[in-house]
Amino acid sequence: MAALQTALSGRLTQALSLSKGSLRFASSFKASDLVIEHNKACRPKPDTSNLVFGKQFSDHMLIINWSEADGWEAPQIKPFQNLSLHPASSALHYSVELFEGMKAFRGVDNHIRLFRPMLNMDRMHRSTERSCLPLFDKGELLECIKKLVEVDQEWVPYSQDASLYIRPTYIGTEPSLGVSRAGNAMIFVIVGPVGPYFTTGSFNPVSLLADPSFVRSWKGGVGAYKMGGNYSPTIMVQHEALRRGCQQVLWLYGEDEEITEVGTMNLFIYMTNTDGERELVTPPLDGIILPGVTRQSLLELARGWGEFQVTERKMTMKELLQALDEGRILEVFGAGTACVVSPVGSLLYRGKTYEIPTMQNGPYLAKRFHKELSDIQYGRQPSEWAPIVV
Ligand SMILES: Cc1ncc(COP(=O)(O)O)c(C=O)c1O
Repeated sequence: MAALQTALSGRLTQALSLSKGSLRFASSFKASDLVIEHNKACRPKPDTSNLVFGKQFSDHMLIINWSEADGWEAPQIKPFQNLSLHPASSALHYSVELFEGMKAFRGVDNHIRLFRPMLNMDRMHRSTERSCLPLFDKGELLECIKKLVEVDQEWVPYSQDASLYIRPTYIGTEPSLGVSRAGNAMIFVIVGPVGPYFTTGSFNPVSLLADPSFVRSWKGGVGAYKMGGNYSPTIMVQHEALRRGCQQVLWLYGEDEEITEVGTMNLFIYMTNTDGERELVTPPLDGIILPGVTRQSLLELARGWGEFQVTERKMTMKELLQALDEGRILEVFGAGTACVVSPVGSLLYRGKTYEIPTMQNGPYLAKRFHKELSDIQYGRQPSEWAPIVV
């Protein structure tokens, strides 16, 4: 009896400490506590016609610190500045780091809009859970980000070809070398103007290297999360693609060489299937694919049109090459925040280059998707997908 009581009370203590723990993790910073320190030395805005992605940053940034001992500090918007980190910080050693990529657009009516920002917050929350970092209230983070965009609103380009890129980042700042859950962490958000991926109206098709000896992610791994550690190993493969005369990597997976993603974009194939029907295919979210906001949006648009089959299914290199050979491939394109859609023109696979007729076919669907999304983003088409910030 005594042993049972001890066991039960042990369990009770564990349950209590767990619930205490989850209570602590459930608590969040609040946007209403934001402290804003304005930059007194704001810099001139760059010419939007020659912006290089990710090299120009605005005058302010958002910083939110957390510690095991004290919980969340009040969020702060501060002048853009370097971070000071303990050299043992877990982000620097074990890639305890995750991020998001989203944009703010200055519309035809001069209002600034985000694009489905809650989907980025949802994905960031999932990456946070997988990284064992403390959770936060997604709505509160979005409010803080909106405030940062408002403070730096003059950095949102006055152009319908450019936008303000927003990079929410979450790092472990635990100052010790143990491979363990971070006891200190920091969310920060930096923003900067970015130019068009393509000059208006003209899509440039990309060439891809499909080499099955390189794998981006695997079942049971973390490819479905936007963690920095997924990206650093791809840099060498991207260089290998360039060395072999290709612009990007087509990531394959498994024995049967499933087609998964292209560069840092989701992949779409518009084709005539073996039943003679038009079908838009994209790989399913089976753990090795990043669930893109653009991917989800294109699927929802296409399903709404109801004009052709829209399928999330596995496609192998064998099926793609056979369909190509039989003239059934209409368009292949990547989809992501950076470009909306990026047409694919050719594929280098096992030493042979295969031409893909995306451009010869318009690309009708890729252009239609691009127009639909950019009309929403720049306020030409009112939509609840693009909430106004200012
Ligand atoms: C690996 C990967 N796949 C797909 C995407 C496209 O996602 P999104 O449409 O949310 O930008 C990204 C970019 O975030 C990515 O890094």
